[in-house]
Order: sequence, then C-alpha cells, then structure tokens
Amino acid sequence: MVGSRVQLTKAGREYKACCPFHTEKTASFWVSPEKQFYHCFGCGAHGTALRFLMDYDHMAFPEAVEELAGRLGMPVPHEGGGGPKPQDASLYELMTRVAEFYASTLLRSERATRYLTQRGLTAEIMQRFGIGYAPDAWNTVLRRFGSGEHDRQALTETGLVIERERGQIRDGDRHYDRFRDRIMFPIRDSRGRVIAFGGRVIDRGEPKYLNSPETALFHKGRELYGLYETRLARSSLKRLLVVEGYMDVVRLHQAGIAYAVATLGTATTPEHLKRIFRLVREVVFAFDGDRAGRGAAWRALQHALPEAREGREIRFLFLPEGHDPDTLVGAEGREAFEKRIDSALPLSEYLVRELSTQCDIIHADGRAHFAESARPLVNKVPEGVYRELLIGRVAEVVGLAPERLRALWEGGLPTRPTAQPPLRPRTAHSAGRGSLVRQAVVRLVQFPATAGSVTDTERSGLDGSTEPGADLLRALLDDLRGRPLKTAGQVLERWAARPGGEHLGRLLDREEVLEDEGAAAVELRAALVKLADLVLERRVDALIAKQAATGLNSDEIQEFQRLMNRKAMR
Ligand code: UTP
Ligand code: MN
Repeated sequence: MVGSRVQLTKAGREYKACCPFHTEKTASFWVSPEKQFYHCFGCGAHGTALRFLMDYDHMAFPEAVEELAGRLGMPVPHEGGGGPKPQDASLYELMTRVAEFYASTLLRSERATRYLTQRGLTAEIMQRFGIGYAPDAWNTVLRRFGSGEHDRQALTETGLVIERERGQIRDGDRHYDRFRDRIMFPIRDSRGRVIAFGGRVIDRGEPKYLNSPETALFHKGRELYGLYETRLARSSLKRLLVVEGYMDVVRLHQAGIAYAVATLGTATTPEHLKRIFRLVREVVFAFDGDRAGRGAAWRALQHALPEAREGREIRFLFLPEGHDPDTLVGAEGREAFEKRIDSALPLSEYLVRELSTQCDIIHADGRAHFAESARPLVNKVPEGVYRELLIGRVAEVVGLAPERLRALWEGGLPTRPTAQPPLRPRTAHSAGRGSLVRQAVVRLVQFPATAGSVTDTERSGLDGSTEPGADLLRALLDDLRGRPLKTAGQVLERWAARPGGEHLGRLLDREEVLEDEGAAAVELRAALVKLADLVLERRVDALIAKQAATGLNSDEIQEFQRLMNRKAMR
C-alpha cells in the first residue's frame, strides 16, 4: 500500500525509502509489510497502514478504513448503503481508460493545446490534472470503448455516451458521445479514481461547460474538484480555498496555491462542508466581485452556518470586480493572492456587514430590523461557544447587552427582573444546552491533558449544574485533574467500567477531531465558563421565583446580591 505512493527498495524482510513526511536524501523510512507498519528514523513519523493513509493521503478515518478494507478484500458496511457497489469497479476502470484516451488526444490536437497554452497552462500542470481533449466527432469514445452491448451499457451508465429515445432513431445507432470537441477535466474522487468529467468548449459555444450527469460514481453535491490533487501536493494541509471554476483550481495550483478546490457548478452544500472540516480547520471561500458572486457568497454563508463552531475558521474573500481567481492569480501572482486570502472576512464579520448594508443601523428601527434579520441566521449555528460569540457580535451592533438580545429573540421579556415568576420559560429552551456539556466532555476525552489548564474557579463553577451529563463531566474532569492522562485511548480504557464510560467512545465517534490541543483547551474552558453562567442564571431565576412567592430571607437576599455581582463581572 505504501509502495504505491513511495518508491521502496527491498532490504531484507522490510523495505526502505526516502521519507515522504520530511525532505531527505538518504533513505531512513522503513516499511514492514509483515507488521503493516512504517517508521522513519529521520523524523520519527510512524504508524499503521491506516495512519499512513490518514497522514500521507489526508484521508478521513472512514475513508481510510474503506480504502484499506477494500485492499484487504473486506466489505465495509455503509451508512444508508450509498457507497459504490462491487460492479462499479469496472466502471471506475473504464473512466480511467477514457481519461487516458482524452489526455493522449490532447497532445495530438494542436488547436486544443494552443488554447490551453494561451490560457497560461504549462504542460506539467495539464499532466498533473490529467487534462484532455474530446475529439470533434459523434462516436470516438463509443467506437473505442463500446464494442459489445455490455460495454455500451457501461458507457451509458457513466454518462460518457448518451442513448437516444427509440422514436429518434434514424441511422440505426442509438448511442452517441456526450463530449465532443471539448477540453476535458477529469473529476477524481478522494482516492484518485476518475468519476466524472467537465468539458469546456474551446473559445465560444453553449454551454460553456458540460458536466457528467449524476451517476453511480458521481454525486456532484458531494465532490470537490481538485481535492485529490490538493492531497497529493501537500503533506501538511491546513486550509482549503474553495473557488467556483475548474480553471481557477488549475491556475491556482500552478501558481503554488495548491490547496484550491472547486464545487462543481453548484452552491457549496452542507455535505461539502462536512468533508472539508474532516480535513482542515480553516476554509476560505473565494467569490467573484460581481453581483452573481455576492449572491453565491450569501448562499454559501447560509450553508456554512450549521457547520460553524469554535475551533473552525470560515472566511470569505471577495475579488475585485471583473476578476476571477484564475485571472487574478495570473495578473498578480501567488504572494499577492495569498495576502488577500490571509485578510479574507471572517464569517461573523461578513454576516454583520452584509446585514448592515440591508438595514439602516443608524436608527433604532433599522437596528431592530437588523436584529430580526440576524435571528434566523444565528439560529442555524449549533448551540455552543461560537454561537454565543456571534450573538455577542450582533448585540454589539444593535447596541444591546447579549442577554437582552437573546431575551428579545425568545419572545419579548422584561428588561429588569420583576417579581413575576417564572422569569424565563427555562425548560422550553434548555433542551439544547446539553451540547455544552457534550463539547466539554468530547474535548476532555480527545485531549485529556487540557484538564490541566482548567482553574479551580472554572471547576467549581460546575458545582450545582443540573445540565444533562453534568455528573459525568464533573467526574471526568476531577479524575483527569487528579490523575492526568495523555491520550484518548487511555481515558477510554480507564473509564471502560465506570458509570458513563460507555458513552465516551460513542461521543468521540460522532465529533470531529480537533488537531490542535490549544484549540481544544480554549473550547473546553469556554464551555465550562458558559456552564457556570447557566448555573448562576438558574439560581438567580429560582431566587426570583421564591421572592415572588414567599419572599427571601436575609441569607437569600445576600446570596442574590452576590450572584448579581458575579454575573455583572463577566
Ligand atoms: P464560469 O462561467 O465562471 O467559468 O463558471 P470559469 O470557471 O471562469 O471558466 P473559464 O475561465 O471561462 O474557462 C464557473 C463554474 O461553473 C460551472 C463550471 O464548474 C465552471 O467552472 N459551469 C459554468 C457549468 O457547469 N456550466 C456552464 O455552462 C458554466
Ligand atoms: Mn474564468
């Protein structure tokens, strides 16, 4: 498996190579096929076959498992059964052969190569992306790859060939090539298998781009053009730049911005975002500066909100009018373009800015309108620290305290605590608060060492919390502060037989793994602070209710004042 990615030479029962994880001239990278294990004596990289796929090919865990199981002939059960079926194997192979054919035709077509060269592409980049050319004829692919009925069937299934309706048959042949006289961009899945094509007319014509239809291999709302090439190019991937077009991706890679991917003629879907965040923490969307680009950006924002959370960075880059990434990187080069990427607008700022251009926030009713427009957007963000921060930012623009804004959104509540219990319909909106506990628990299991960064005050803030799962959180936190551990595996092992331990592994499976311990610690402590706030709020509510019903005794009055002071200090 490693052998297909790295040039290995045999050394006894093992193999050695130059390490793919760091630059070196002499081979210090050892692979043991017997143990399915690799180790680099130079940089210390080591791990199992699974780890290799995750580190070197940047595969997410489930993909890596699937890839490996596939090689070992083990079937992997799919959620919802949506994955490829065994008979698809020959379709993948067919697509690869056709892609190779298109690529070889490109070299023979002077017109096609001239066009690409004029657009500034080098031969090297054309090869890296497997760019090809579909000849100007109705049945080239059909004749070459569709000799039998079975082969024609396969060509139709992959969308390479179109079958006419029966009524339309004139000259006897019901099939013809979908792509004719077009520059062909093979679309590869994350394992590098060709699953579809995009075909561009040379110069003018309609449609400008023709794409493969949805097939068993290709679901366009899921795929990102250039993701495979991005993974090949980079051994450490930190962020992705999402652009709109094929040419944008290719030109950006050529310029050295080899982390650009494109959605395929669709808006960014939530599925795209899920895939993206399994790979990186940071995504920047680039849009043309025109009206269409701004519309697309706003749609992307809407889809991104459900995926926004602490530890993730989502930003928006608007290009000068008249430019797309292709022309801009061509005009100003990598460095200038990366400066733009670095200063792209964070999601929260883009949201606020866009809404303020729609509402006149100078005046009070404009600000009220702003708050109303922001509400459905903020509600798309899962409960948690990021959402609280976003509420804070909106509140700032509107000129209200965040609690007041939240109260307003929850249905018009009194400004000051009044003696009318219950002050807030607690049970109605407390259900989702479990996510704060969950967030804290997940980070603790993933990075047990973060427990060490929790202060005594932060810890005692949890006392009295009645959130679902708070008992488990307290126990876990105390345990890890008292007897520190280093890895998730150790936590799961120690907790296997303890109450609540059975939940830990499952929780971990469903959450994305943060790569950065620092980010996890920030997230953990922010969740603890919010939980402490909740404890406080509930106690305040209870005291207010009691005051209304029977009145408070002097101890309770003092407690109330203390609580209000603490709350005001935050
Ligand atoms: P653009 O029209 O912005 O094209 O479409 P482009 O990427 O800049 O292409 P060049 O530079 O003229 O070659 C952006 C993307 O929208 C999809 C394609 O994925 C394209 O890359 N698209 C566009 C289609 O699928 N069909 C079309 O007819 C046009
Ligand atoms: Mn373009």
